[in-house]
Amino acid sequence: MEYNLDMTRIPRHVAIIMDGNGRWAKERGQIRLQGHLAGMEALCGIVRHSSDIGVEYLTVYAFSTENWKRPADEVSGIFKLLIKFVKRELDELNRNNVRIDILGDWSIIPEDSADSIRLALATTEKNDGLKLNIALNYGGRAEITRAVNMLIDSGKKNVTEEDISACLYTAGMPDPDVIIRTSGESRLSNFLIWQSAYSEIVLTPVYWPDFTPSEYERCLAEYQSRDRRFGGHK
Ligand code: FPP
Repeated sequence: MEYNLDMTRIPRHVAIIMDGNGRWAKERGQIRLQGHLAGMEALCGIVRHSSDIGVEYLTVYAFSTENWKRPADEVSGIFKLLIKFVKRELDELNRNNVRIDILGDWSIIPEDSADSIRLALATTEKNDGLKLNIALNYGGRAEITRAVNMLIDSGKKNVTEEDISACLYTAGMPDPDVIIRTSGESRLSNFLIWQSAYSEIVLTPVYWPDFTPSEYERCLAEYQSRDRRFGGHK
């Protein structure tokens, strides 16, 4: 392996902010949707590689609560890509024992995309390999606000951190060990803001469509080189 990954310390949960599709397309004189299409291809490779190296949870930021501000044709194009992704990849994902989950409020996404999601969830719900979480119409603040309202509705008077964690879309999952952001930006952009309290952040200048399994391994090797203390010290 190129980057000497320590296979005994593969992160359990990797989260990725897949950024730079638009700039990738622009550099090639293509429309933004071409960039998202290339981004979908990159995602397929990273999902496969995550399974291969034994990552347990892979969470990817596909559409944020803020992404509705984009032009309508770009928004509808991204949701169409989701349909294409399911149509083309579901059999292989299922064969590879991948379980698909959605983080976010997908009740308001276009109906044909919601149909694809229902199919993907039902087809893979019994799989116990890689858990692929697709964040769709996801926002960290909206997620925490939803959790607070769930706790108010439950009548709870004394709320613990565990109570809040249990009301997030990620309930029952380990927090991400590492969050990778592509395209040289260094913000969390409302992604997993509760869950990332102790996550390592790894940044790469590579645009998402160019993010190969090899670059993925470089990022994971960088993660493995970090000294995680969780607020304590050695
Ligand atoms: C960020 O790049 C990317 C998105 C908002 C969309 C992510 C979507 C995919 C990777 C493909 C879709 C995959 C599925 C499964 C639906 P950007 O457009 O913000 O890039 P820019 O910052 O260069 O403009």
